[in-house]
Amino acid sequence: MTTGHAPRTILITGGSRGIGLACARAFAANGHRVAVTFSSTAVDEPGLLAVACDVTDPAQVNTAVSEIEEQLGPIEVLVANAGITRDGLLVRMSEDDFTEVINTNLTATWRMTKRVLPGMMKARWGRIVILSSVGAYVGAPGQANYAASKAGLIGLARSIAREYGPRGITANVVAPGPIDTDMLRTLPEDRRAALAGVVPVGRIGTPEEVAATVGFLASDPAAFITGAVVPVDGGLGMGF
Ligand SMILES: NC(=O)c1ccc[n+]([C@@H]2O[C@H](COP(=O)([O-])OP(=O)(O)OC[C@H]3O[C@@H](n4cnc5c(N)ncnc54)[C@H](OP(=O)(O)O)[C@@H]3O)[C@@H](O)[C@H]2O)c1
Repeated sequence: MTTGHAPRTILITGGSRGIGLACARAFAANGHRVAVTFSSTAVDEPGLLAVACDVTDPAQVNTAVSEIEEQLGPIEVLVANAGITRDGLLVRMSEDDFTEVINTNLTATWRMTKRVLPGMMKARWGRIVILSSVGAYVGAPGQANYAASKAGLIGLARSIAREYGPRGITANVVAPGPIDTDMLRTLPEDRRAALAGVVPVGRIGTPEEVAATVGFLASDPAAFITGAVVPVDGGLGMGF
């Protein structure tokens, strides 16, 4: 976490629950100015500026970032965390289920990054941390849409890393394995138990374990790390 360094203005998309909320709490506990966006679950926590913003709507993204910057100052750290699943076997997956996942997970991350980058360029300092998934590189049955969106985020982050590295801006990807949040709880109990069984450390991870890595990548000492894909997956993605 960024302890011992200047307080930063941090925006976390999808910060109403799960991994995003754990990140927000950790940043706030370390004295940073933290804004979270949400689409449907309102957040009311001391130390967090909560702004409604459906990341798939360009107008809402623009307005939300303006409001946050007015209240907290230019965004220095973006944690692109908002994400959804619409699982189903590929042959039965609808056009809507594919495009909705791509729009929310991938296109909206590009959109939000585009909105905050000018401020970071001006400051010649910025951190973009993108939540992907172990599914990006191992795939997942029933998640062709989700895995494709999460793999796309790696190409996005690495392109940002190359375009804006000389301006003091880093872009990194965190790739969690199964983490105990609402997203995982949508899976049947037996599927969750099976997942825990194939994780080398033998359990599901916690949102706080992901937040710790996000916090480090957002910190000053992480300035020489960019374009990295950092697994927080209990070893699930390392192969057999
Ligand atoms: N949990 C896991 O096992 C796991 C594993 C690998 C990667 N990840 C990734 O980690 C990230 C966080 O996952 P999580 O498990 O914490 O998910 P979660 O508990 O389901 O929370 C998802 C968050 O995204 C927000 N969101 C969804 N659609 C949005 C939209 N259109 N506009 C704005 N916000 C939107 C939700 O806001 P509302 O509350 O308002 O709906 C919520 O804050 C996701 O990108 C996910 O793909 C999770």
